Amino acid sequence: MQFSISDSKPGECPAVCLVAGIFEDGKLSQPAHALDSAARGYLSNLLKQGAIQGRSGQALMLYQVPGMRAAQLLLVGLGKEPDFKLQAYRKAVLRASRALNEYGVKDAASTLSLLPVPGTDAYQRVRHAVECVHEANYRFDQCKGKKHNHKPTLQKLALLVGTHKDQGAGERGLRDGNAIAAGVALAKDLGNLPPNVCTPSYLANEARKLAKGGKLKVTVLEEAQMKKLGMGALLAVARGSRQPPKLIIMEYRNGPKNAKPQVLVGKGITFDSGGISIKPSAAMDEMKFDMCGAASVFGAMKAVLQLGLKINLVGVVPSAENLPGGNAVKPADIVETLSGQTVEILNTDAEGRLILCDALTYAQRFKPAAIVDIATLTGACVIALGNVVSGLLGNDETLVKELWNAGEQAADRAWQLPLYDDYQDALKSNFADFANVGGREGGAITAACYLSRFTKDMRWAHLDIAGTAWKTGKEKGGTGRPVPLLVQYLLDRA
Ligand code: BES
Ligand code: MN
Ligand code: ZN
Repeated sequence: MQFSISDSKPGECPAVCLVAGIFEDGKLSQPAHALDSAARGYLSNLLKQGAIQGRSGQALMLYQVPGMRAAQLLLVGLGKEPDFKLQAYRKAVLRASRALNEYGVKDAASTLSLLPVPGTDAYQRVRHAVECVHEANYRFDQCKGKKHNHKPTLQKLALLVGTHKDQGAGERGLRDGNAIAAGVALAKDLGNLPPNVCTPSYLANEARKLAKGGKLKVTVLEEAQMKKLGMGALLAVARGSRQPPKLIIMEYRNGPKNAKPQVLVGKGITFDSGGISIKPSAAMDEMKFDMCGAASVFGAMKAVLQLGLKINLVGVVPSAENLPGGNAVKPADIVETLSGQTVEILNTDAEGRLILCDALTYAQRFKPAAIVDIATLTGACVIALGNVVSGLLGNDETLVKELWNAGEQAADRAWQLPLYDDYQDALKSNFADFANVGGREGGAITAACYLSRFTKDMRWAHLDIAGTAWKTGKEKGGTGRPVPLLVQYLLDRA
């Protein structure tokens, strides 16, 4: 996909197809109005006849509109003008990109990036447009037969910006948007791969692939080293599987020498059957997405590498497969974690926190400026927040606010849940220091409480992406979230 930033006038744009927006109740957006004037009221006439009302989701392709250079004009609905904010803008760009592909358009130009969107400048409008076009063009067909061909047709897109001054901002938006989209696509691919392919070893190789550019130091801890270190919790989860667990460490050091690194820790359960506390079989296939936290760390790392950000960043990915078996961990087993604290495993399906706790303890050795873990951790988080926002908890309000703000900027939102001490009681155990589960109530919070016991001396936050990392139903597939949030957070630190 070839993007360009252009300050040409809509009517003079050399692309084959021009895109323009219509607000609800048939009001022409400013660029559409200019086209209408050149066409002597041709468009306003069409609107009067009810050809398109401008509702969000609408699209209408026109041919040979008088007074403009492009042969085609795609009108897209923008929804109500007062509601035209970042989300509505992104929706319109996504709809337009899908329509361009449906009509087989190869070469287009968009005036949508000229529209005023509250709280945005040309940088953000271009960046979000680029992300949305990549979103529309994304396919996952590497596991389908050769005959399968639904490739997107769109190959060239010019994004119009108003003034010469906006040109530079647009170019920066293009660069960042492309990098975020590359990270999102990698996270989607890893999530979408079947669990017989995407194993802990596969993820370890993926890290080595990222290191090929020479800007990343990758270390993979094997089972024997985990035993030596005393990672009893991570090892317990892996025991039921033939797939060996991996602890993948990616070190990117491109910031000031002595600056403490940002550390991202991603849950990499490549399949979660629940183990001996086995899950019901309905929708169990979706537990291949239980490594989407890990995928988001790979995605964020890919974007940072592509941008060459001047920061220090460490990615830590504990990875295992959670299966039942003759050697599997059982409810009531007690293990000693790397931190020295003992845990009674009352439910083997609460495995994410078990692999994360040892990874979080291990990550302390990097003396993090802040540590953020990302995990498809609890069904309870989906009940609490649905599929719209990721759950956000932490022991440092500034860090939580920084992540929240990054989510808003990146249109990849998160919402804070409380981490009051009162919730800690749920983890009481009669036999070990604490248990790995609380009750059903407040499950997303008590899961974070468990993690908080391993991050006492660090600035730490936790993103529960159980509801946001993938879509179910007809559009089943990874979303690439929260790569945009993470990259924004890192951009803000660079
Ligand atoms: N990977 C799941 C969480 C999950 C479930 C994400 C459904 C998305 C959809 C996690 O390992 C898990 O099984 N959590 C349990 C915890 C419980 C046993 C305390 C859950 O949420 O049911
Ligand atoms: Mn589980
Ligand atoms: Zn899980």
